[in-house]
Amino acid sequence: MPDPWDPRQYDRFRTERAQPFRDLLALVQPRPGMRVVDLGCGTGDMTLELHRELGARETLGIDDSASMLAKVPRAEGLRFEQLDIAKFAPAEPFDLAFSNAALHWVPDHPSLLRRLTRALRPGGQLAIQMPMNDDHPSHQTAFELARSPEFRRLLHGFERRAELLEPAQYSSWLHKLGFVRQQVRLQIYAHLLESREQVIEWVRGALLTDYQKRLAPADWERFLRRYRELLLPQLDDERPFLYTYPRILIWGELP
Ligand SMILES: C[S@@+](CC[C@H](N)C(=O)[O-])C[C@H]1O[C@@H](n2cnc3c(N)ncnc32)[C@H](O)[C@@H]1O
Repeated sequence: MPDPWDPRQYDRFRTERAQPFRDLLALVQPRPGMRVVDLGCGTGDMTLELHRELGARETLGIDDSASMLAKVPRAEGLRFEQLDIAKFAPAEPFDLAFSNAALHWVPDHPSLLRRLTRALRPGGQLAIQMPMNDDHPSHQTAFELARSPEFRRLLHGFERRAELLEPAQYSSWLHKLGFVRQQVRLQIYAHLLESREQVIEWVRGALLTDYQKRLAPADWERFLRRYRELLLPQLDDERPFLYTYPRILIWGELP
């Protein structure tokens, strides 16, 4: 399947996307000489910031998209690997497993959390941020279109839904997995975009990539056109446009 991630499209809302990353990073307790993994690291820019802010000894960024990894930054102790998070099973444990806006693409969170916990050494930390915006028209419209007879056939029934648990369930899982300290919170990010059209550009850089890679170019063009026609009338025509974006931030520390 082609890789539809386009670092330029994703980077268009860099400032807005950086805020949740920084909020997540603020939950992490820095320790000397940390060994860190950044799961779904994207272009690696934020991995570099993570590496520097924590003064980490070693930071590994993993991502399964070759285009996102095409121009990763270089720094001492920083390296990147093209790998599916679902296959991540390190031989040597980490002090921190960090993931900003990526794990919602990975199914079966109870097993994922169990695996990530196994990848940590005693005193290790887990820090995860994921969007929880499936109820917004920007996401609902994509689901609706994917379920329409025309696209359901072309997409072979595929519908992109994040398999997220309820916020309180993440807290319970952290407890069950032995995390002695934790913070789980749902935060609404109020992103001010230039206009409602910008919502389409935002969603194109993330959620819609999964439809794009499953459709032939002409079908994808039609999908996007229909998406636009259905979505825009549901959004207030105001400038700036307020795009509300709930996200869950999860942090835990092992004894
Ligand atoms: C929304 S971007 C976030 C990138 C980066 N963490 C940031 O905060 O800018 C999501 C990234 O997760 C990666 N990704 C999604 N599913 C993945 C998987 N199963 N294994 C590895 N990477 C994955 C995508 O390729 C993409 O680069």
